[in-house]
Amino acid sequence: MSFQERCFSLFRFSLFRAGFILAAVAIGCAVSSPASAQTPASTPTSKIWTVPEVGALPNDAFGAQVRRGRDLITATYAHIGPEVSDAPRRYAGNNLACTNCHLEAGTKKFGLPIFGLFELFPQYSARLGAEITIEDRVNSCMVRSMNGRELPNDSPEMQAIVAYIKFLSSGVAPGQKLSGLGAGAMPELKRAADPVRGKAIYVNACQACHNTDGSGIRRSLPTTDLGYMMPPLWGPDSFNDGAGMARLITAANFLHFNMPHGADYLNPQLSVEQAWDVAAFVVSMPRPKKAGLDKDFPDLLKKPVDTPYGPYADGFSEQQHKYGPFAPIRAALAKLKAKKGQ
Ligand code: HEC
Ligand code: HEC
Repeated sequence: MSFQERCFSLFRFSLFRAGFILAAVAIGCAVSSPASAQTPASTPTSKIWTVPEVGALPNDAFGAQVRRGRDLITATYAHIGPEVSDAPRRYAGNNLACTNCHLEAGTKKFGLPIFGLFELFPQYSARLGAEITIEDRVNSCMVRSMNGRELPNDSPEMQAIVAYIKFLSSGVAPGQKLSGLGAGAMPELKRAADPVRGKAIYVNACQACHNTDGSGIRRSLPTTDLGYMMPPLWGPDSFNDGAGMARLITAANFLHFNMPHGADYLNPQLSVEQAWDVAAFVVSMPRPKKAGLDKDFPDLLKKPVDTPYGPYADGFSEQQHKYGPFAPIRAALAKLKAKKGQ
C-alpha cells in the first residue's frame, strides 16, 4: 500500500519529467498497479484524503460538540487526565493526549488516523472475540493506551469524541476503507528485532526529544502545567503493556512513517531496519501493567503474532512473539487454522 503510494509519488514526479515509464520500471513499480495509467491525479487515495475542517463549522450546538471532541483528542490530559482538579473526571491514567499517537488530531495518513473510519464500526474485535462499537474502541484506548478507565457511553466526553470521529468521516462513503488508515506495513526482518541495536538508535535519533530515560518533557517546566511537549515512551506515565503501541509491528511501522517527529510516509527518516530495532528497544522498556491480559483474544488462532503476552496456541516463545521473526509463527498458525478448517 505505502509502497504503491511511494511509487505513485515518484510516478507523478517522473511524469512531470516525461520519463515516467523508465523511472517506474527502474524502481520496480508495476506499471499496471493502481497508481497506473492515465489519470494519476484522480487515484482514490488522492481524492479521498480530504479532511473536513473543524474551524469551518458554525457556532451552534453541533459545532461546539465537535470542537469539544477535538479538544479531548488534542489535550486529553487537560479534560480527563489524572491531574485534573475535578476528581470524578479523571478517566485517563496518564498525561498523554490521543493526538500523541493519532497524529495531527487523528488526520495524518499512516499516523494512526481516526479519519474516515466511523462507518467501519461496529466491527469484530479479535481481542474481545465479539462485535465492538466505536465507543468500545475508544474505551479500549482509554484502558490501554491511556492506562485509565472507561468513559461511560452517555458521558459528554464520550459523546463529543464520537461526534468528532463521525465528523471526520463526513463524505467518506459507508463501506469504503481508505488507504492510509493504521500505521502502514513495511517489510519484516528475517531476524528478530534487536533492542540492543535499537538503544543506540534511540540515543542518536530520539533521546533529544523523548529524554534520556524515555520520560518525555512536560510543558512549561518547572511549573506544573498539564501535558507533554514530548510524550513519554515508557515508565509510569506511559501507555500500558496491553496497548497497541506495545506491539512491535504497530510500533515499528508507526516509527518508520512518523518519527523522528516530522517524518511522514513519503519521507521516512529511519530505515526499515532501524525502525524495527528502535521499536524493539521501546517495547522492551518497563511500563504500567494491565491486569487480565491473558483473557485477551479468546480465539488464540486470531491473536496477532506480535502480541507480547501469552497464552499462545502456536508453541512459540513470548520472546519470539515480542521481537520476531514472525514468518515462522504465521506459518504455524496457518497450519493450525487449516487443521481446524478455519
Ligand atoms: C500510545 C498511543 C495511543 C494513544 C495515546 C491513543 N491511542 Fe488509539 N490507537 C492506538 C493504536 C496503536 C491503535 C491501533 C491498534 C491496533 O492496531 O489494534 C489505536 C486505535 C484507535 C482507534 C481505532 C482506529 C482504527 O483504525 O480502527 C480509535 C477510534 C482510537 N484509537 C481512539 C483513541 C482515542 C479517542 C484516544 C484518546 C482517548 C486514543 N485512541 C489514544 C494508539 C493510541
Ligand atoms: C523532534 C522531537 C522528536 C524526535 C527526535 C522524536 N520524537 Fe517521537 N514524538 C515527538 C512528539 C512531539 C510526539 C507527539 C506527537 C504529537 O503530539 O503530535 C511524539 C510521539 C511519539 C510516539 C507516540 C506517543 C508515545 O508517547 O508513545 C512514539 C512511540 C515516539 N514518538 C517514538 C519516537 C522514537 C522511537 C524516536 C526516535 C526514532 C522519536 N520518537 C523521535 C517528538 C519527537
